[in-house]
Amino acid sequence: MPRIIACFLLILSLLAMLPPIIAAQARSTPSPNLPINIIQDMDLQAKFKAQSQNDLFADKRSQRPQIVGTVANGESYLDTHFNEGVVAGQWATTTPTQLPLTMAFLQRGRERFNIYCTPCHGYSGAGDGTVNQRALALVSNVDGPVNGTVWVAAKSVHDATVTAQPLGQLFNTVTNGVRNMAGYGSQIPTEDRWAIVAYVRALQRSQNASINDVPADKRGGM
Ligand code: HEC
Repeated sequence: MPRIIACFLLILSLLAMLPPIIAAQARSTPSPNLPINIIQDMDLQAKFKAQSQNDLFADKRSQRPQIVGTVANGESYLDTHFNEGVVAGQWATTTPTQLPLTMAFLQRGRERFNIYCTPCHGYSGAGDGTVNQRALALVSNVDGPVNGTVWVAAKSVHDATVTAQPLGQLFNTVTNGVRNMAGYGSQIPTEDRWAIVAYVRALQRSQNASINDVPADKRGGM
């Protein structure tokens, strides 16, 4: 090959490397300029980003607090007893007054408890549900944790630390979960969560009942 052609090819191949080098450099170096944006769509428009400063308002916040007297569109959460199990900053000790404690209410609670809670807590609430039994069987197959996993058993609702809890705290556990237990606020409607809590109380009482808890006409031969 004549030397001049070899030189020409060499220069050509060196030049061919320039565009990718420039592109790589442009991609890896931050620039204050906006990228070339041929199809704009709605990419660029005047807006205030969350948490950014806005000199229009005295407190310079872009995010505006709710205007006093704003009415909730949909569910209202002003009733903290019903929605959070909290009365005057303390855990509620009663069920909300709009949910009368009838036998039908407790039976609804039993039905919902049996659906949502028994897999882990068992039908009596003692923490011996099938999920728990299966997990214990798996964990005890080998010495120590399986795959780096440890099993936190569902707590018995008859544990002294749980029986001592006010209803509102139980309601909060069902709604938001506790430590390793997930919350059911998004799956179980509020009224049903209260029904479950009322039924848990009934379960707790069933394990610590005295003869005085049994109506006189139901005491059999005693
Ligand atoms: C997927 C398994 C699972 C389900 C389903 C489940 N729990 Fe739990 N629950 C747990 C575990 C695990 C703990 C203990 C959490 C810990 O100690 O980290 C627990 C703890 C609790 C406690 C004790 C809270 C405390 O303060 O110590 C209560 C009360 C309770 N659950 C009630 C319920 C009720 C009511 C339901 C049904 C709505 C339910 N759980 C459904 C796994 C479950």
